[in-house]
Amino acid sequence: MTDGPLKAELLAVALEAAERAGELLRDGRPADLGVAATKTSSIDVVTEMDIAAEKLITAFLAERRPEDGLLGEEGASSAGTSGVRWVIDPIDGTVNYLYGQPSWAVSIAAELDGEALVGVVAAPVRGETYRAVRGEGAFAGDRRLRVRPAPSLDHALIGTGFGYRAERRAAQAEVLRSLLPEVRDIRRGGSAAIDLCDVACGRLDGYYERGLNPWDFAAGALIAREAGALTGGRPGEAASTELTVAAPPGLFERLQGRLEELGAWRD
Ligand code: IPD
Repeated sequence: MTDGPLKAELLAVALEAAERAGELLRDGRPADLGVAATKTSSIDVVTEMDIAAEKLITAFLAERRPEDGLLGEEGASSAGTSGVRWVIDPIDGTVNYLYGQPSWAVSIAAELDGEALVGVVAAPVRGETYRAVRGEGAFAGDRRLRVRPAPSLDHALIGTGFGYRAERRAAQAEVLRSLLPEVRDIRRGGSAAIDLCDVACGRLDGYYERGLNPWDFAAGALIAREAGALTGGRPGEAASTELTVAAPPGLFERLQGRLEELGAWRD
């Protein structure tokens, strides 16, 4: 299969999987939803709905694309034989979902030979689904997404997020203490995937976070790039768990440079 039909097929599959999982999560959220398990700390939570949504997505992918690999936040992991790997966060923004806040998303990326080819972030309570195909732009419905023109750092609205371990948070608070007086303001939305899509839509000027996992940023970072953002980690490096930064050219270099000075990549 050449790239074009493959991209179209992967996009269709990702959109359908995200839509089905989004409906399950929006319509099936129990009123008394509780915590099913914890991960890196007692406040890093998993709900029964994270598990149910990941099962729905992986069963759908196994039926439609049985030869592909998988990496899911709730444990799905298989190598596959096709060169395509799906990177899945069934609920990005689980704490928002647990509390009934609207900012959570289903995030699904398809990578080909390790590079994101397709990304879908469905935010059902916002009523928006963001999508991108590498080299073909980013969209929400019919609307083509474009980043805002880069402002100076002191006029930039910057999104960020925090890890779940106290030591990491203490280091993140130190970075924020220095950065906050140097920017327009800071937002902490609670879903990295939505933050990256907000950069793509021009609802944020830039975003950074230390400690993301691939399922948090794989789809959103592609969407941000296809909307005109640069993404990366420390200077010269790709976005990673160490550090993820996204912003339009002009702001990106300034933000990334300042984060480097502040040591935002370390605890
Ligand atoms: C979390 C969200 C949050 C970010 C955390 C992530 P999860 O993902 O993206 O915004 O600050 O670092 O772990 O746990 O809700 O899938």
